[in-house]
Amino acid sequence: MYTGKARAYTNIALIKYWGKKDEHLILPMNNSLSLTLDAFYTETTIEFKESFTEDSFFLDGIKQDQKQTAKITAFLALVRQQYQVSLFAKVDSRNFVPTAAGLASSASGLAALAGACSAALNLELTDKELSRLARRGSGSACRSIFGGFAEWQKGNSDQTSFAEAIVSDNWEQDLAMLFVLVDDGVKDVSSRDGMKRTVETSSFYAGWLSSIDADLKTAKQAIAEKDFKALGEVTEANALRMHGTTLAANPPFTYWSPESLTVMQLVRQARQNGLPCYFTMDAGPNVKILVEKKNLAALKQFLAHHFSSEQLISANAGPGITLLPEEG
Ligand code: PMV
Repeated sequence: MYTGKARAYTNIALIKYWGKKDEHLILPMNNSLSLTLDAFYTETTIEFKESFTEDSFFLDGIKQDQKQTAKITAFLALVRQQYQVSLFAKVDSRNFVPTAAGLASSASGLAALAGACSAALNLELTDKELSRLARRGSGSACRSIFGGFAEWQKGNSDQTSFAEAIVSDNWEQDLAMLFVLVDDGVKDVSSRDGMKRTVETSSFYAGWLSSIDADLKTAKQAIAEKDFKALGEVTEANALRMHGTTLAANPPFTYWSPESLTVMQLVRQARQNGLPCYFTMDAGPNVKILVEKKNLAALKQFLAHHFSSEQLISANAGPGITLLPEEG
């Protein structure tokens, strides 16, 4: 029997990953840049055992059905193949999120699973190797190996596509992210299907790709210079461009709900009132607002006129993955 445990934190991209050039290897069309957060994380224990006749997956103590388990078993099949293991496994994951608000993240989940496998099988992977492995579970998971800012180098092969930490002199500790939960329902279009559809059909996709180099350069320079306005502006512009691609897909779709637009408008209003903050969004209607920690309380107070305290969840910059000792 081999057991291992890991904890990984979620990350939110400031420069988004949107589109794959290799669906099987999960090689992205563009580099992306993220901030790992402390408020949402996953702890996963894995047990590989001779007596198991199939893989099983428990989430927050509840056994998941075949559909929910499919992503996990596909990942475990890859681990078995790569590291010459023949045993089935039991995966026990716990998502730590401040409320049951549909914020469970594939980034923290798959990063924690990769870490737990590495711990259980004594793989002694470097961060780069672990990032590559996590990438095969879910693209954005490769960035959750690192704390603070990370950049996923798109690469052009399994070997060359991985995330790296961005040196920032701990500036991320001055930043916060406020999640505005406008909807906790299941996504209409998964990130996987959404990016596939836009890559294949959206006439705006070329515009998205052509903007990435400049956005990354601006973001990295802003981090180096601790320039919050520059980082915020490029974060917001990049998210808007990503979401723009979905409107020109066939069939067209959007992740925005009317409430998402309300939050965007409120963010602009907050800025006009002299409170610097910038929004970003992923493959769902919830909005995340980048703000300096010193202004977080004021932003929350401003938004409290429109949203309940349960809808406003804040996070600080978080650490990288930890492999934990197994419990006895
Ligand atoms: O790794 P996935 O399949 O969960 O895709 C993540 C895609 C976005 O959240 C929309 C962008 C990103 O870079 O995280």
